[in-house]
Amino acid sequence: MVTKVQKINPGNFKKEELEEACDILKNGGLVAFPTETVYGLGGDALNPLAASKIYKAKGRPSDNPLIVHIACMEDLYKVAEDITENGRKLAEAFWPGPLTMVFKKKDIVPLSVTGGLLTVAVRMPGHPVARELIRQSGVCIAAPSANKSGRPSPVRAEHVIEDLDGKIDMVIDGGSARVGIESSIIDVSGEVPVILRPGYITKDMAGQVVGNIFTDPAIESRTPVDGITAKAPGMKYRHYAPEGELIIVEGDISNVICKINMFVKDKEKEGCKTAVIATDETKDKYRCSIVKSIGSRKHEASIAAGLYDILREMDYLGAQFIYSESFDNDILGGAVMNRMIKAAAYHIVRA
Ligand code: TXA
Ligand code: MG
Repeated sequence: MVTKVQKINPGNFKKEELEEACDILKNGGLVAFPTETVYGLGGDALNPLAASKIYKAKGRPSDNPLIVHIACMEDLYKVAEDITENGRKLAEAFWPGPLTMVFKKKDIVPLSVTGGLLTVAVRMPGHPVARELIRQSGVCIAAPSANKSGRPSPVRAEHVIEDLDGKIDMVIDGGSARVGIESSIIDVSGEVPVILRPGYITKDMAGQVVGNIFTDPAIESRTPVDGITAKAPGMKYRHYAPEGELIIVEGDISNVICKINMFVKDKEKEGCKTAVIATDETKDKYRCSIVKSIGSRKHEASIAAGLYDILREMDYLGAQFIYSESFDNDILGGAVMNRMIKAAAYHIVRA
């Protein structure tokens, strides 16, 4: 299969430019498209054959359910039932946007889309191309992130091509994804909402709308804990990982710099290709042949937006050992670290 790349300017495009993509979706094919979080790999959510194509193209385990993308509230009532008051309130506050919610599913949603679960994850994306694609095709679009399973999520069309060229019908190239990490997932099917995956919509933001809210204990853990299984099936897999070994060094920043420089010296002595993930504020303080800045600590959104780009860049550079500063802080940091810790397979060192 030849994968067609269709360039579209999200700020200024005509309906006709999405016509071919809509036809592909209506006929059960696969189209990768930009959203404000990361690129998604889309197929018709109500067509089990399209779902199986998505799993195959990504090499994704079939028990890991897909998110159904919708364009309007009527679509929500098509795929979900028993919409709770909390679900309604959060939708009003954050949709369209980087929030996914888990509801009880309607029978019309195939079990192959929900990985056998009786619930369905739904998101109304805010990206103009994503919204118009759903609206114009009339298709509720099942879309996981458009990466090969286990790889960092794609934030540019080039990343999608890298992972899925020849395996899908089309990629819509709408430039860089603004947020850069996947949506927050909140389960609103029960009485108290539960955060299953942290993201741009934080616990505080959601808590201001619904009051009481929990976090799935499995996602807060900094070590793999026996007996705790994440409620979002996808959160249990090693994920987002570069090919080299990623090690996170945390602690007081001057100690971190010192420790990373020590590690680098040892590894370079052994002849290993070594890299450092730093920030705009610290990048000049490292002695390593490859030092890349993920963003600025003064603008934490820039760190989230830079995360997957930098992890993929480490692969282009052939880095065997990658030492990274830690990006823990109150707001977006939790969401960034949740991905980093998985990419590092829980390898964290205290300086
Ligand atoms: O920002 C995003 O959410 C992106 C864009 C494309 O929308 N999509 C995305 O999809 O990140 P994916 O497949 O990479 O991650 C979906 C996550 C997985 O961890 C999956 O297990 C969880 O959502 N999930 C899906 N349906 C679920 C359900 N019914 N109950 C609990 N978790 C669910
Ligand atoms: Mg993913």
